Formats: sequence, C-alpha cells, structure tokens
Amino acid sequence: MTAHPDLEAAHLLARRQTLIETHLEGLGPEPAFLDALDLEEQHQLLDLCCGTGSFLAALAAAGHTGELVGLDRSEALLQAARARHPDVRFVLGDALNAPFPSESFDRISLRFALPHLSPRFAALSEIARLLRQGGRVAALHGTAGHLEEFWQVLHRAMHAHPRLRDHALPPPAQPACDAPAAFGPFRAVERRVLEDAVWLTPEESTVLLGSYLPALELPQAALPALRQRYLEEVAGELRGEKWRLTARWELWSARR
Ligand SMILES: C[S@@+](CC[C@H](N)C(=O)[O-])C[C@H]1O[C@@H](n2cnc3c(N)ncnc32)[C@H](O)[C@@H]1O
Repeated sequence: MTAHPDLEAAHLLARRQTLIETHLEGLGPEPAFLDALDLEEQHQLLDLCCGTGSFLAALAAAGHTGELVGLDRSEALLQAARARHPDVRFVLGDALNAPFPSESFDRISLRFALPHLSPRFAALSEIARLLRQGGRVAALHGTAGHLEEFWQVLHRAMHAHPRLRDHALPPPAQPACDAPAAFGPFRAVERRVLEDAVWLTPEESTVLLGSYLPALELPQAALPALRQRYLEEVAGELRGEKWRLTARWELWSARR
C-alpha cells in the first residue's frame, strides 16, 4: 500500500494527461501501478523516460518528501517539464547509461517507456545498478491488444486511401518481456495484465489519431482525407454516441 493519502486521487487526475487525454471508465491502471511501486513518501524516486513529468508532478502535489528525479533523452520534453513543474529535478540523459552513481534510488518507475528501450537487458541491468538493495522498480505500458479497435479503424481508413494503402502501420504492441526470468537481475518479479474500457466520442478519438500520426510520417497532403475517412469508420463503430476501445496494459514489478 502507498503511504500517500492523497496520491491516488492526485494521480487519477494526472492520468488523463498520460493516457492521451482519454476518458477511462474504471479506475485504470494507476492504483495497481502505485501498489506495485510500493512508494513511501521519503523514498528517492527516479522516473525513467519521464517525458513532460506529469507523474512526478502528481507525486510532488501529493506531498512526497523524498527526492523526485526525472530522466529523459528529449531536451524539448524536459524543457516543458521544467516549465510546468519547477520543484522537480529533470535530467537529460540516456536510460541505458544514466548519469547517476550506483545505488542512488529507492524506487524507479517506467511509464509507457520500457518498450522503447533497447536492448531490453541493458536497460534492466542499468535499472538494477541504479537501485539500492531492496529497492523496487515498476514498469507500466500497453501490451498486446491495447487500443486494438483504434488500430483496426486506422488500418481500414489508410487502406481506403490510394496513397496510403501500402503504408505500413507500426507493429502491434507486444509484451515487453516474455517471462519473469527475462526481467533481468531482480527478485520477486511479477507481471500483471490490466484491462479497462475507454469510451470516446468520435471527436475525442481524433486526439488519439493526432498523437499517433506524426510517428507514421504520412504525406501531409493525404491527411485531411485520412481524417475524414477515419471519422466515417469510427461512426460505424459507435454504441450510442461513443466508441468503446479496449485499453490493455502490462505491469511489471520487481525488487533488487
Ligand atoms: C511514450 S513516452 C512516455 C513519457 C512519460 N513516461 C509519460 O508517461 O507520459 C516515452 C518517453 O521515453 C523517452 N525515451 C525513449 N528512449 C529513451 C532513452 N533511451 N533514454 C531516455 N529517454 C528515452 C522519450 O523521449 C519519451 O519521453
């Protein structure tokens, strides 16, 4: 259990931002993530691949007293993080070669980040190096089946466009590690799969579209037609006024 009375409430609000501003119907993965991290308020915590720092900001707002450090390799994201959350320390660096001495942290969090780190064993070895004996790591990210309805609709919309028909979509999300033994040099390794329903209006779902399009590097001229076709496909999926999407995450936790 977490030692922060306000933490879950604060973070449930921050979650909206993390989950691409979508509307989770249930509690989402946050209570389970905080349980897995087993964070106490005096712990020194490193959020690896922190992005714009919303997780650390929620902890600071909830009264965390231990040092909060965020590391990311994107200076642009860190600048946004520093501007939004001046009380948190944000460090530029590579998660595979982090600029901290060994055994610097009690807890390490990875949120929507572990699948980006390659080779995986190097990232996990680095996390083990940074954790104190008895410290914990928790990693949360989408897994197989995450937002599959969205990807099916996007695929159909792209297929309907002559210039986008042959453009590849990113490979579907996969489990980050296939077995606890693959999770590196840790003890008490656990993996859980968490599922929730996300209900979106068509307009709200265009936020998802907008967040994934840049990575697909599609020709700009084709985007208005793609958006139009995407909305037509979404309209065919509605139950009442909303579209039901499946969110599926995996949550790894382990002790050093
Ligand atoms: C999907 S974002 C998640 C950001 C944040 N954790 C959140 O929940 O909003 C992935 C982040 O990983 C960062 N990243 C990817 N590879 C990295 C690496 N090798 N070292 C540091 N950061 C990395 C990216 O810059 C990006 O901010």
